[in-house]
Order: sequence, then structure tokens, then C-alpha cells
Amino acid sequence: MGRMAATAHGKIDLFRGFVFAAMLASGLAAGAQTADQAWLRYSGYQSGTVTHVQMRGTVIRLRVRALGRGVLEQSAAQELQRGITGFTSTFVMFWRSNVNGEAIVGTATEVHNAYPALAIPHDLEPEGYWLKWTQSHGHALLVVAGSDERGILYGVFDALRRLEADADLTHLNLREHPAMPIRWVDEWDNPDGSIERGYAGRSIFFEGGNVRQDLAPVSEYASLLASVGINGCNVNNVNAAPQLLDSDHLKQLARIADAMRPWGVRLAMSVAIASPQTIGGLGTYDPLDPTVRAWWTAKVSEIYTLIPDFAGFTVKADSEGQPGPASYGRTPADAANLLAAALEPHGGVVLYRAFVYNHHADWRDPKADRARAAYDIFHPLDGKFAANVVVQTKEGPIDFQAREPVSPLFAGLRQTSQAMEVEVTQEYTGQQRHLVYLAPMWKQVLDFDLRADGQSTPIKEILAGKTFHQSLGGMVAVAGVGRDAWLASPLALANLYAFGRLAWNPDLTPMQIAAEWTGQTLGAGPQVAGTVVKMLMQSWPAYENYTGPLGTQTLTDITGSHYGPNIESSENNGWGQWHRADKDGVGMDRSVATGTGYAGQYPPEVAKIYESLETTPDELLLFFHHVPYTWRLHSGKTVIQHIYDSHYEGAAQAAQFVDEWASLRGCIDGKLYEDVRARLEYQAGHAIVWRDAIVQYFLKLSGIPDDQGRAGHYPGRLEAEDARLAGYKVIDVTPWEDASGGKAVSCTEPAKNAKQPSCSAEWTYPGPAGRFNIAVQYFDLQGGAARFALTVNNQPAASWSADAVLPSKRPNGDNSTRHTVRGVDLKPGDVLRIEGIPDKGDPAALDYIEVAPAAAALPGQKVD
Ligand code: GCU
Repeated sequence: MGRMAATAHGKIDLFRGFVFAAMLASGLAAGAQTADQAWLRYSGYQSGTVTHVQMRGTVIRLRVRALGRGVLEQSAAQELQRGITGFTSTFVMFWRSNVNGEAIVGTATEVHNAYPALAIPHDLEPEGYWLKWTQSHGHALLVVAGSDERGILYGVFDALRRLEADADLTHLNLREHPAMPIRWVDEWDNPDGSIERGYAGRSIFFEGGNVRQDLAPVSEYASLLASVGINGCNVNNVNAAPQLLDSDHLKQLARIADAMRPWGVRLAMSVAIASPQTIGGLGTYDPLDPTVRAWWTAKVSEIYTLIPDFAGFTVKADSEGQPGPASYGRTPADAANLLAAALEPHGGVVLYRAFVYNHHADWRDPKADRARAAYDIFHPLDGKFAANVVVQTKEGPIDFQAREPVSPLFAGLRQTSQAMEVEVTQEYTGQQRHLVYLAPMWKQVLDFDLRADGQSTPIKEILAGKTFHQSLGGMVAVAGVGRDAWLASPLALANLYAFGRLAWNPDLTPMQIAAEWTGQTLGAGPQVAGTVVKMLMQSWPAYENYTGPLGTQTLTDITGSHYGPNIESSENNGWGQWHRADKDGVGMDRSVATGTGYAGQYPPEVAKIYESLETTPDELLLFFHHVPYTWRLHSGKTVIQHIYDSHYEGAAQAAQFVDEWASLRGCIDGKLYEDVRARLEYQAGHAIVWRDAIVQYFLKLSGIPDDQGRAGHYPGRLEAEDARLAGYKVIDVTPWEDASGGKAVSCTEPAKNAKQPSCSAEWTYPGPAGRFNIAVQYFDLQGGAARFALTVNNQPAASWSADAVLPSKRPNGDNSTRHTVRGVDLKPGDVLRIEGIPDKGDPAALDYIEVAPAAAALPGQKVD
């Protein structure tokens, strides 16, 4: 249920002062919305079932008026009008009285000039605002006064949030401002329209080498960003395409800047440090070469002629194959300062990424450690960066894993502004096919107290520039939005929302933010809000549970998809995401005493905690220490038992999400319900793939059984390789842990005489009689849509298509998928048969079927 239900249940008095926009100031026209309005729909998903709302309060006809002519101010007024109209349209029929009022939006100066009697705070901070509900000449007056135009916009979105939450505005008198000046999203879009690590379709910015003609989605995206206070958007991949700096592309980029400008979002771009050579025709890109300097100066002037409010450059250099200053024996400070000098006269900044490391490290060297790289390289440069350089550091020392410690570099740069980079696009965290609400992870990092100089120095205060007195700084999220509903998964949008809210105010709690987002997106009915917030809050712990335990990182395929399980992909290569699992133990020794010394990069109080096995928190134990599997955690469990238990628990939590969501059936929009239901059901199946891969791998490696007898025992599971096969051939799956028992069957030589080429696997059901769910575990490969059919005693029970879009053209944990056929009656001796019909590159590969009592069926789940 949405807002109306809440009203019907006793919040009516709050509507004294409820606002209704009946008129508009001249010149304001609501913009057509063409894409998904996400959390800005101003009505929630209504169930349409509420019919009697008794309005006892006063409804006020509110006229929205912009006091100035600024573009942002017009956007703000227009949005306020759109929002109020959205909220109130469903209440019009209950409108009893007709009291007039006004909502005025303007800069503090404009408001002061128009209403000299109002006590407007004279010291509003940059981008800040004042919201006030008052009376003027006997009429209600809602004042949104911004210290500048962005402030007005942010004030309007704040007022709208309060309205959406049914807050009583009549006592409103507050001022707000952002905690940190840099609040950017980075898009990793390529000119050809693809998106690096994007999981929501193609770029909203580019196609076919150029900026797209239709930039309406870009403006809409900018309005979403503005609504949570984001003020910059870097539109292209950090692995930067140099041609975007040529004159033709710069003109095209100026169109993007125009589309975002009304929402106060400034354009930034990623640049390749070798550009003077690759597109400038110079023989060098040495940052200290005067011709290189002159080239950048001219290029930056050209940019500002086209885009006067250009925000600046992001730089990835000497990293993962990107060229950098190291080619000339120069430092990151040399490169950053080169660009900073060109940008400085125009007010632009350089966000230089600390993601610099050697990806050809020697894995045989026990002292080699990628985690050390950022601190080792950047800490000695502290004090050498120009004032408009910001060092941008990922939140952890490796690469957006499911769990990492915070980067020690945040305490290692005291004379340098700093930004923290996080990922909204769920690269290592389930690629938006898994529900993982990341705000709790970011919040832990923001609150982490690095104890620099033995003082309280939480990371949020370092980023805000308070701790080390730096003027710039902030948060940057790799966003990865695309044309498929921004982030493809409806619930993944909570992460984009939460990023903006935390960058604005890192003191907000993830739960508070989840509640806000849920209310705005799905409607504020208590059942919906309670359930969704609970699911969001459980989702990161669940994901961590069924992926990489105790700080081993995600344990995914790190050299490929970054999606399914692949434990050994981290080892025996130079990428440095080592976890050092062997038959006796697991974990990477990063202590100073016996390991790589990484722990010593933290300020002493924190270093001391991580140095010792006894004081390192369980969740990071294996990041800092190598221990035997029998090592006892603070929880009292051994490491190996924790690995088993956490994976069973995580998979059970994922199954629980399906159940919880099912309880909302009928309470929210049907299409949305079904979309999320299908995703959660897929996730629950994939969590089992993860669970079994990690558990069987460590069972085999350690040889230590599971106290609870689950590891290696799968009740009701019938392996495909043990079936009576026709056409299907037994294959070894790589990595072996991604298939049950390491093997599967693949229909590479289908029977030729059949109507259509197909293979089959057949089992005689060995269990008791009853009603069962039959889970079929198969591999849904790229390159074709195989079909599967289940028959029982030759009677069709279900058929489906393997047409999901998942990584990999080979059967493995990226594409291992579970389809559950529910409510099947079986008796001993029944013949269960799967027919697989391959399609192009998809050989209908099959891992196993699993028969479980149907009592486990969940309410609201579909029975095939
Ligand atoms: C990750 C990601 C890359 C990206 C890199 C970066 O490693 O997988 O696609 O280029 O981060 O942050 O630069």
C-alpha cells in the first residue's frame, strides 16, 4: 500500500498544511518524463485498493513560484510543482477547503529581497539551503532558500522527500548543507555504447563511436542524481578512449553537459595520460615536457570554450595496462599536477586514482602484496600535489570485494584532498542479479576510525576535509547505469540513492536511507516498507556469507567475469588477489612480523589490531593472516566450520528473500513484483551454486568433514553423470567446484533421428512417495537458448528455455542455473527424465536434479 493507506490509518492530522499545486508561475512547464522515474515518481506504486480517505485537515492550494530566472531555479520550481501535483492528485476528490498559499524558491538573496521581514540565515554554506514554513499576509508560505542555485534544487528535493514521507511541514525550519564538496558518479561508458562492468544494457550517453542524438534519458538521469545531491558526472570509462578529446567529440560532449546542467550536474571526463601522443601528434607524453604541457593547456581551454562549467578530469594511469608517468620515470604527482595546472585557471579539478599497482606481481614471493601498492606509491607524494588535485582511492586496498579492510591511504595523505571511490554497479557483488544493498558496507567504511595520531579520525571526516583541513574531497561512485531501467534490477537502485544520500550526509544510517528509498519507490505502507527494508539490510551479509568468507575477498573468477565462483583464479598469477589456500590452511599473512607488512600501513592503534591474530576481527582474519583450517575464531568456531556454516546460512538467507518478497504479492505493482520475484528466485538458486562450490572445494582441500554432516551430502540429489544418458556426454566442468562432483553432461552429440536433435538423462526415482519439488540444475550458456523438458513416467511435467543473459560460453558457475518444478507427485520407481534440446552454442548442459519435499514450497511461488 502506498501513501493513501497510511493516511487512511490515522495520519490525517498531518495533512493540515498539506499542499496542492494548482497554479504555476509563468514559464514553468513540467518536462515530459520518458524513462523510468525510479524514486521520483511522487506517487509510489499504488495498489489502487483504497477507496475512502476522510480528509479532516486543511488542504492548501499552493502556488509554486521561482523568484529568479536561473536555469537550476526553474528546474527546482518545476520539480516542486510536479511532485506536489503527483502527491495530491489522488486526494483531489476529498478536497474540502480552499486556503491559498505559496511555495517560493530562490536564492537567499532573492528571498530576502522579496520578503525582507523573513529572518533568513545569512551564512548558508555552499550548496546549502533553508526550508521554512511560515505565514505571509495571512497565507501559508513554504520557503526554499538556497545559498546558491544548487542549494535551491537540493532544498526542493528535501521538501519533496518530507512530503512523500507524509511529514508535517507546518513547523519546518531547517538548514542543511552537504558534508563534502565532491559528490560524483563515474560512468565507465565507451564511445561504442558498451559499458565496462555495466549490467544494465547499453550506454545512455554513447553509441557507434559518438554521443547519442537522444539525450532525454541523460537529463532524467541528472534529475535523479540531483535529487540525492550528486553534483558531478564523469561520463566515460577510466580506461579512457583518447578520441573523446578530439574537437569533434568535445562538441558532442558539450551536448551532454547541456543536458545535465539544468540539474546542477557538471560534466567530467576520464583522460588517458598518453593523449598528447596518441591524438595530439607529439612524440612524447612526458608530464614534464613543455610541449606536452602546452598541449594540455590548449586542450583544456578548448574544453572550457565549449563547456564553461566543466568539472574536471579523472585519471587512471600506470594501472592495468594504462600508460602513465612511470614510462618516463615520473610520479603520479607529476602527471596530476600537469593536468591540474591546465585546469586551475578555469576552476577544474583532477581526480587522480590511487588504483595503481603491478598486475604482474610474483605470486611466489611471500612479501609481494598488491594491497600495499596505493599507500607505497602515494603516501611518499603527500604534499606534492597541486591544490586542485584530489587523490581518489577505492574504499579498500584491493578492488571492490565483498569484504575488505578500509584503505590505509586515507590516513596516509594529510596534505592532499581525498575522495573515496565505491561501486554502485555490482561488479563483484552479484552484478545486479543478486540483491545486495551496499549502503551498510559503505557506512562501515565511512564510520571506520583510523585513529590517525591517536585521535578520532573517522574516514567520513577525512573525506569531508575536516581532519586534515583540506578544501576539496568527497565520494565518487562507479554507477554503471544503462538503458535497461538505469540499473536493470529495480531494487539495485537503492544503491544509487544511498550513495548520494551518504555523500550528502554520512551520518545517515543505511536503514534510514533504505526506508526513505522504499517509501519513495514502492509506497510507504508499513508492510511493504518493513519487508523491503529488512531484505535490503540482510542482503550484503547474506551475499558475503555465500561468497568469500572471513576476508578472503569474493572468491569469484577474478580473471574473467567477476561473477560466479572460481577459487583458484586468484592464485598463481600476477593479479595479486591471493588468498593462499592450501591443504593446511588459508589466508594471506599481511602482518609486519612475518608477512607482507601491509598491516603496518595503518596508524599504530589500528595496525596493532590487525597485526595480531588474537585481535583481528573474524570477518577480516584471512585478509591479514594465514591460519590452519582448525584455527578457532572469536565466534568459537573453527575456520573450516565457519566456511561450511556461513555458506549454508547465506544460501538459506537468499531463499528467505523469495519468501519475504512473496508476502508482498498484491501490495505492489504486479509487473514490478514479478520482475523482482524472478530475480530473487534466480539468486536463491545461484546462492546454492556458490554454497556448493565453496563448500566442496574446501572440503576436498582440507579433508576436514562438516560437523553438521552437510558438506558433500546432498539429500535428494541425482547427478546427471549417473543417469541413463541418451546423446548426453559426461564432461569435466572447469573449475571443477562449479559443478556438483565436478562433472556435468553436455548435449554435444544429439540423437539425429529424432524430430529435433536432443539428448536425455533418465533416473529411476529411489525415494518415498509424496509431493515434491524438483530442482533442475543446468548451465545457461551464452550463444543460444537451449530448451529443457521434465517428464515423469513420460508425462510432461514442465518445460522451459535457457534464455537468461549470463556470462560465459562454457558451462561453469557463471551460468549454472536452477529451475524448480513445484508440486510433483512421485512414488518409488517413477522415471524422471530430462530432455535437453541444444541451440546454437548452448549444448543444454545439465548438472543434476534434486528432489525435495514440496512442504518447502513458499507462499506466492509459482507452481509450474
Ligand atoms: C576493476 C574492474 C575493471 C576496471 C578497474 C578500475 O578491476 O574490473 O574493469 O577497469 O577496476 O577500477 O580501473
